[in-house]
Amino acid sequence: MFSNRRIWIDGKMTAFKAAKVHILSHSFARGSGIFEVMSVYPTDNGVAVFRLRDHLLRLEHSARDLMMKIPLSRNRLTQAIKQTVRANRVSHGLVKLIVFYPGFGLEVIPTDDKVSVAVAAFQFGRDFNMSKFGEDRFATAAISKWRKLDPRTVPVHAKAAANYLNPMLAKLEVRKRGFKTPVLLDTDGFVAEGATESVFIVKNGRVLTSRPEHILLSITRMSILQICADLKVPLAQKKLTPQDLRACDEAFFSSTTCKVWPICRIENHKLPAPGPVSLKLQNYFDLILAGKIKKYHKWLELVD
Ligand SMILES: Cc1ncc(COP(=O)(O)O)c(C=O)c1O
Repeated sequence: MFSNRRIWIDGKMTAFKAAKVHILSHSFARGSGIFEVMSVYPTDNGVAVFRLRDHLLRLEHSARDLMMKIPLSRNRLTQAIKQTVRANRVSHGLVKLIVFYPGFGLEVIPTDDKVSVAVAAFQFGRDFNMSKFGEDRFATAAISKWRKLDPRTVPVHAKAAANYLNPMLAKLEVRKRGFKTPVLLDTDGFVAEGATESVFIVKNGRVLTSRPEHILLSITRMSILQICADLKVPLAQKKLTPQDLRACDEAFFSSTTCKVWPICRIENHKLPAPGPVSLKLQNYFDLILAGKIKKYHKWLELVD
């Protein structure tokens, strides 16, 4: 399926099948890779990567948290991303960029300090089905028994592969109970986030979302905060309880891949999906992504 796809690795376009790391590489064995997933949209001015610079800033933040040295400049990474999008003829899809230790080592710390960079790009529909965007237009959510990683144990703001065992377990657990996506509570029992999504609820016309301390600093979440300010939709970041989830008027997840994803049920609590406030934000966000709102052209990094 991917036979004619190309993955950019350390400056070279590599055939999909040849893009390999050693089984004993530190990043494979210990999950020490850091990564970013970015979205690509066809806009009025051409194909664009959404908030590319902000993704690279977050990547730099992840690298600092892991004491890892990214071998390439921000400018070089930007060129690599654009080149990969073009080489794979992606106009609407995703880019995944991974920074990793390819070297062999048995110690818990990487003993070979070589760092590699890989960039892959995928087109929705052609390369994979995103059922979320088809029949799964609405999410169902349940509170997982697994708590979100505590920021005193690992840097939760780092988008590091090893941190994803946590949402993987949570998602497997709620899937078994018939729900699509988990909501993870933090170790104090407050709402943190979804598996790979931020959580928003609406109560009496006010949008509420978790505080940033325990969650990934999501680019989509930041965008929605800005959109709420623009549209004069009242918003607060606060400690939310499971009871708040069960008593809300509307709810949605957000992320690079699902954008604004209305939730139609949180455990037994049925919700309108999309509710009026969610729909307003969803529509405005779609206009921004299509390049229809001039003020936000700065969020769209054109590929050509
Ligand atoms: C744990 C977690 N939270 C939230 C998000 C949403 O972040 P973004 O909007 O930057 O995609 C992600 C993205 O994958 C994630 O992994």
